[in-house]
Amino acid sequence: MPIMWDHQRMSTGLTDLDEQHKKWIHIADAFDLALSQRKGVAKLCETLDAVMEYAEKHFGLEEDYMALYNCPEAEANRSAHEQFRKLYAGLRQQIELQGATMADAVELDFALSRWITDHICSVDSKLRLAIENKPKS
Ligand SMILES: [Fe+2]
Repeated sequence: MPIMWDHQRMSTGLTDLDEQHKKWIHIADAFDLALSQRKGVAKLCETLDAVMEYAEKHFGLEEDYMALYNCPEAEANRSAHEQFRKLYAGLRQQIELQGATMADAVELDFALSRWITDHICSVDSKLRLAIENKPKS
């Protein structure tokens, strides 16, 4: 099912991060569509590589912002990003060894939508409060 951008729940208060999260949603939705068209297995490696490459760019910027604004979620965010890297590297390795399967495609589809709905809404969006609460100098 496609994920819709929900500004109230997902916004970090920073336009560049929000745009990157929208791109994330776009990747997840494109893969979800491919899966519904029975092209999920064929698109699996391409999507996984795009997600991992994108994550490296995005995570660094987001962690820098959390440090800059003294966000209380900074450590939880860094550790969630680390778990994400491990999960995706593990899935990539499994596919290298055993080939892509429908189960892998379903797992990726689920993991992407869960990451967006759980992580962005409950961790990344806390940055908005930290920005609002930062004392003006
Ligand atoms: Fe994050």
